[in-house]
Order: sequence, then structure tokens, then C-alpha cells
Amino acid sequence: MSTPSIVILISGSGSNLQAIIDAVAEKKIHAHISAVISNRPDVLGLEKAKAAGIDTIVIDHTEFTERQQFDKALAEQVAKLQPDLIVLAGFMRILPENFIEQYEGRMLNIHPSLLPEFKGMHTHRRALEAGHNQHGASIHFVSNELDSGPVVIQAIIPVLGNDDEKTLAERVLEQEHIIYPLAIEWFVTGRLSLINNHVHFDNKPVKKIAIWQSNTLSLPQ
Ligand code: GRF
Repeated sequence: MSTPSIVILISGSGSNLQAIIDAVAEKKIHAHISAVISNRPDVLGLEKAKAAGIDTIVIDHTEFTERQQFDKALAEQVAKLQPDLIVLAGFMRILPENFIEQYEGRMLNIHPSLLPEFKGMHTHRRALEAGHNQHGASIHFVSNELDSGPVVIQAIIPVLGNDDEKTLAERVLEQEHIIYPLAIEWFVTGRLSLINNHVHFDNKPVKKIAIWQSNTLSLPQ
């Protein structure tokens, strides 16, 4: 069997991208990153990909007058690459419905909250404002509703009394770097799949998602 291929879509600093690159290098992810695509030309994530010898593609959304033109250019690039898995790692564009449908069950996203809480932006601020004592990040399959696809794994951390938006964001990000490679490895090794919009693990429908908390992993059950 050939090595599964991944395409990673980014818009920013690419710290999750770096965690995935490292996990591939360390053989914690058994896959090949065939390209990194960014909708912004000057982001750090592109430098990280280049430093790792990965092909980079820029599709600058500001160069298109119509949203559909950008969507088409992106879809064409991805289609050429024929990835087994698309990984959204801080990709800040909303993807069109037909693209999401085409790659249903083959596209993962990371969101910095314990979904279904705090979909959308400013998740850390909102968790603090809500006075929550726990916060975290979720990996989910991408569906047509924003930040709403079936969740695979969550990392849960305590919110500390002296946390502000920045400290909380930093501690969540550290956890993101742990759970994203795990979910990707499960997918590319065939342990994780989406069947009839339901997460399956080791070929069984999942009743309880995976949780990473206090340095301990509970597998999906
Ligand atoms: C992360 O917080 C991720 O959850 C969110 O965007 C941020 C991306 O960070 N979707 P990076 O580009 O991976 O450093």
C-alpha cells in the first residue's frame, strides 16, 4: 500500500502545521505531506513548510474579486494533489458546500474550544467571560455548518484563576499540538473514519469521543 498523503491548509503562523511536520518526521504519523496551501502569501507557516522541504502553494484570496473564483482555484489545486486527507490547521476561510461534500469524511479541522461551546472566533475570551473552569480544543470532521462536524478528540485543560486570554490561548495551543497528530495518525492508519456522519474508531461507532486531559489519553469508545 502506498503512503497516505495529506494536504494541509493554513492561513497563519502554522504552529499546528509544525507539530504535524514533526510528528511525520518522528514517524508518529505514517503519512506524507504532499503540500501546504495558504490563502495568505507572507505567513510564517509557509516558511515552516519550506524549511521542512514541503511544497507550498499560495492562493491569495485578495487577488480574486469573487469568492467563487478563489474557491475554484483552491478546489483545482487540491484535486490535482488527490490527498487522502485534508487538514485544516488555522485555515481562516469558509469553504464552499460542494468542496466540503466532496471531501466529506476526509477533512479534519481544529477548533480552540470544547465544541459545541464557542463556535466561531475569540473562543478564549468567551470562555473566560463565561466563567468556565474548563476549556480546550477539539478536532472534528468538517461539515457544512461552521465548527459543527462530528468531534473526534478533545483536549481539556483547567482555566486558572489568573488566566487571561493570552495565557489561556497559549496553554490550549500546546494541547492542540498533541491531539492533532494523534487524530491524523488514527485517520491515516484506518483506525478513524466517518460513516453516515458518525465517527467510527477501529470499525465501531463511537459513543464517547477521545479525551486528552492531565497527560492522559482516553481512547474513543
Ligand atoms: C489555532 O488556535 C487553531 O485552533 C485555530 O487557529 C489557530 C492556528 O494556529 N483554528 P497555528 O497557525 O496552527 O499556529
